[in-house]
Amino acid sequence: MDTRKVYIETYGCQMNIADTELLVGLLKPHGYEPTQKAEQADVILLNTCAIREHAEERVLKRLSELVRHKARKSGVLLGVTGCMAQHHREQLLDKAPYLDLILGPDAYRTLPNLLAQEETDAPLVAVRLDRDETYEDITPVRAEGIRAWVTVMRGCDKFCTFCIVPYVRGRERSVPLKPLLGQVRELAEQGYKEVVYLGQTVNAYRDGEFDFADLLRQTAKIDGIERIRFTSPHPSDISERMIETMAMLPKVSPYLHLPVQSASNRVLERMERGYTVEQYADLVGRLRRAIPGIALSTDIIAGFPGEDADDFHATRDFLERIRYDFAFMFKYSAREGTKAHKWGDTVTEDEKGRRLQAIIALQERISGEVNQAFIGQTVEVLVEGPAKRQADWLSGKNGQFKTVVFPGNGAQPGTLVSVRVATTTAHTLIGVAV
Ligand code: SAH
Ligand code: SF4
Ligand code: F3S
Repeated sequence: MDTRKVYIETYGCQMNIADTELLVGLLKPHGYEPTQKAEQADVILLNTCAIREHAEERVLKRLSELVRHKARKSGVLLGVTGCMAQHHREQLLDKAPYLDLILGPDAYRTLPNLLAQEETDAPLVAVRLDRDETYEDITPVRAEGIRAWVTVMRGCDKFCTFCIVPYVRGRERSVPLKPLLGQVRELAEQGYKEVVYLGQTVNAYRDGEFDFADLLRQTAKIDGIERIRFTSPHPSDISERMIETMAMLPKVSPYLHLPVQSASNRVLERMERGYTVEQYADLVGRLRRAIPGIALSTDIIAGFPGEDADDFHATRDFLERIRYDFAFMFKYSAREGTKAHKWGDTVTEDEKGRRLQAIIALQERISGEVNQAFIGQTVEVLVEGPAKRQADWLSGKNGQFKTVVFPGNGAQPGTLVSVRVATTTAHTLIGVAV
């Protein structure tokens, strides 16, 4: 069989990165090898995101650049997969009529067949959402390293009013526990040290009587896996048992990404997030009592429809109160098809920008202060490899998922090294091995 080459560019969240590894895994048995160079590829795919308008604009621009590869060699196929393919299939066909393939997140299994088909002029479109598809039997071709991303559930049933995900990823469904643990055992045998469980509401994981806490407990028993992390948990789905489980298992990282979105009850209600500010703050209190030193991060949306100055100040003050380790912050972007889309975009772009800049600056200061508290402490670092900016330095993460860099001491990737922190920035701990 001739090897053909596939080039995939990935946009969006970690679930999409994992889906790219899945796509490569699906194509491999059909004679395809991944390549990092679009110039060498027979198949070029953009695995896309629809979460904000900006993400979609980037893809359209990129397509207009990549289309030249179709002229380079006959038979080169250009396609769009992922959330934007699901969201905007018609518009994509309008704006990029040269596309050969449009494939939604539940249609990846059809890809090898579509590629094997005789050439046609019409683009091949597969965007049926499938409430049962979990790809549990497909082995992704993973990036080498010490960390493996493992999708444990797909879809989302929460329907937050601003969010496109439930429409493009379909209904919530989990990979059954047994094949999932089998996969992780295999990863441990291959030398992976850390698993990161993925799902849009990862802690809604369920297989019959087994829930997310069971998944964590079973995973912790697997020899060779040193660290277990997951993203994104939904605040409403965090059970007492999940907290207890995190507290009792040393392998589970003391780190949680807990998106709050806003700290105004009026806004949270219209977002239909399913919690109040008080409930969320109470949850943070319980987490911090049960898991001392737990690191917390969050997501914030600035300028949701109807967000006034008071709502915004409440969110700003909440950042001061919680003191997250870090935060991802976004300007609201109206998404066609969501409930909030009908409410328009009431905060001007300028005002959204001002609000965003204000909370980014604030959080930068807080992140810096939180990290300074690590100076003088010794942290345990799982080494990943060479540091990006400094030759001969190593980089890795501590349990709280903070990047730690230190002068190389000969430690290999995948080993644990104790590092004494000497200085810090808002994003990094800098120290020496002890
Ligand atoms: N499932 C995760 C969030 C996934 S999307 C959760 O519920 O926690 C990642 C982040 O993108 C969200 O937390 C939100 O902050 C942001 N986001 C989602 N839709 C958005 C929109 N329409 N405009 C701006 N930001 C948005
Ligand atoms: Fe979107 Fe809400 Fe689902 Fe997260 S929980 S993916 S924000 S609908
Ligand atoms: Fe984007 Fe889809 Fe992830 S919309 S954030 S790539 S689930």
